[in-house]
This record gives sequence, C-alpha cells and structure tokens, in this order.
Amino acid sequence: MEQQPAQEKKKIIFSAIQPSGTVTLGNYFGALKNWVSLQDEYNCVFALADLHTITVRQDPAKFRARIYEVYALLLACGIDMEKTLFFIQSHVPAHAQLAWVLNCYTQFGELSRMTQFKDKSAKHADNVNAGLFTYPSLMAADILLYQADMVPVGADQKQHLELTRNIAERFNGVYGNVFKVPAPYIPKVGARVMSLQDPSKKMSKSDENANSYVAVLDKPEVIMKKFKRAVTDSEAKVRYAEGKDGINNLMGIYSAVTGMTMEEIESEFDGRGYGDFKTTVGEAVVEHLRPIQERFERYINDKAYIKECCDKSADIARRIAQRTLDKAMKKIGFVIG
Ligand code: TRP
Repeated sequence: MEQQPAQEKKKIIFSAIQPSGTVTLGNYFGALKNWVSLQDEYNCVFALADLHTITVRQDPAKFRARIYEVYALLLACGIDMEKTLFFIQSHVPAHAQLAWVLNCYTQFGELSRMTQFKDKSAKHADNVNAGLFTYPSLMAADILLYQADMVPVGADQKQHLELTRNIAERFNGVYGNVFKVPAPYIPKVGARVMSLQDPSKKMSKSDENANSYVAVLDKPEVIMKKFKRAVTDSEAKVRYAEGKDGINNLMGIYSAVTGMTMEEIESEFDGRGYGDFKTTVGEAVVEHLRPIQERFERYINDKAYIKECCDKSADIARRIAQRTLDKAMKKIGFVIG
C-alpha cells in the first residue's frame, strides 16, 4: 500500500476554569496566559466549569453575571474562537451524564484521599455535599469526553488528573480503548503568583483581604494601591533570594509582564528602593492589563456576541462529547437511543 504523506495531527489539550469569584493575576499568569499561547500548536478545548462551581453555594444573580463576565474576560485575554473550542460546561449535558457513569467506576476510598476534598470540606463544614466529594469524577468526564492528550495543571489539580488517568485506565481495562489517557502538560513558563499580603500563600480570589490579590479587572488606581501595600522585607535590596518571598513574588510578576530575567531586574533596580520598585511593577501590570480591560468592556457590552460564541461552541462540543459518551455507554451495555 502506498504510504500516505505524514500528516501531523495536532494534539488535543483540555482545560477548564471555574467562574467563581474574580479572575486574578494568579489565574492570568498561572493559567490563562498559557492557554492563549497554546492555541496555535494544539487543538485546544477550554470550558467554563460552571457545574463545578455549585459545589459551593452561589448567589443566583451573581453566579449568572459572573459566567458571562469570565467568558468575556477570557475572550479579552486572547482566547480565539477561530482556533479554539471554548464553551460553557453546563451547555453540554454529556458532562453530567458521563460524570454519573464514571462515579460508578470510581472508588469511595479514592475520592476520600483527594486533598482538595479534605481542605474544602474543612472550610465549608456546613455544606459538605456529595458534589464536593464526587467533583473529581466530573472533572474526569470533562477531560475524557474530548479524548484530550494533555491537560495543563497546576499543583492543586495534579491529584485530580492522576485520578482521571486511573479511572480511564480502569475503564479501558474492562472495555477496551474507549478513553485517551491524558498526560499532564507542564508549561514551559508559568509564574506562580503569591499573595501580596502573605507571600507564603498562593494568590487567591477567595482571600478575605482584597489587598492580597490583584484582579485582572481592577482599576489602575486600585492596582497601584495594592502593589504599594505589598509586603516586602527589611533588606531594602531588590534581589531574588531565599527568605525574600515578597520581593521574589514581585520580581516574578515583573518578569512575567516584561519577559525580563531575575538578573536583569536586579540590575535595573540596583541602588533603588522598594517604593520605586513597587511603583514600577504596579505600572507595568496596569499597562499589561489595559488592552485586556478595554477589550473586556467591548465584549461585556455586546451580550449578543458573547451569546453567539457560547451557542456556536456548545453545538460543536455537544457533538464531540456525545460521540464519546455513546461509545462508553454502548460498551457498558446501555441501549443507545
Ligand atoms: N477543577 C478545576 C479548578 O477548580 C477546574 C476544572 C474543571 C478543570 N474541569 C477541569 C481543570 C478539567 C482541568 C481539566 O480549577
């Protein structure tokens, strides 16, 4: 048989973000900026994981507004509808359906060992619901429905991806090759942005102290104020070193914005004080976010466009997801309607 010309098929990357709370610099530099840069090289499938968000009680009006807000913000950050499938999870019923199926192939003991479950159930002791417990099988469904080759994950989701792999291998072991077993994707660059108030902790949108995080949509004067208040140390020297968590974090942010190395930053600020440094970092962040904020304003005021994007991508996602769901259910013995 004649050899077909080798046609490189792009690998599939899946990732999702919850529309809970505001999107911070941590989300942006830790995940979103990376998503944007993956779009050329890979077939990217990104979702707003709204089904995951109700594991914690949400105010209906705020939740609804936030879903569109985060969708518009991701478009503003550079998610390109021409290249990437970007949809709202709840618009694709197969996610909830496959999650149920996978729940029956996931052990109670496995879910009990998830550290995020342990942390979250301690934090929301008044609402340790079954969804919080089975959340990792929904996440597995998200990933496996699209036959993803790779999933970019931060440290907090590594254990869930590992479980996804175990579930997929277990299912394939019984029924043959139904699911692609996804590998973690470790980004080439990616900043871990820490709290501006307690730089030993990750920057988090659920922090009670709003000064500890910068939201991508914070106004310039708010961003400047937060950077000026950032915790540093008493050495008064811009230098990347152990024990200088606050300065290291600010340098990391400055590096993520400017592309400069730590050495270059050290020499730029040689002999200059922390006040000066913090102002420069704040201004660089403001300028970096300015075009994103401007695009966001345009998108959020054009609901018809946002809705059109969501509808179109959901149509495509439903088709892809249904194929995998049918395949899995047929193998189990369901009568496919
Ligand atoms: N659980 C992830 C988070 O809270 C979001 C998420 C849902 C996700 N489904 C996913 C991430 C699938 C990667 C792959 O951040």
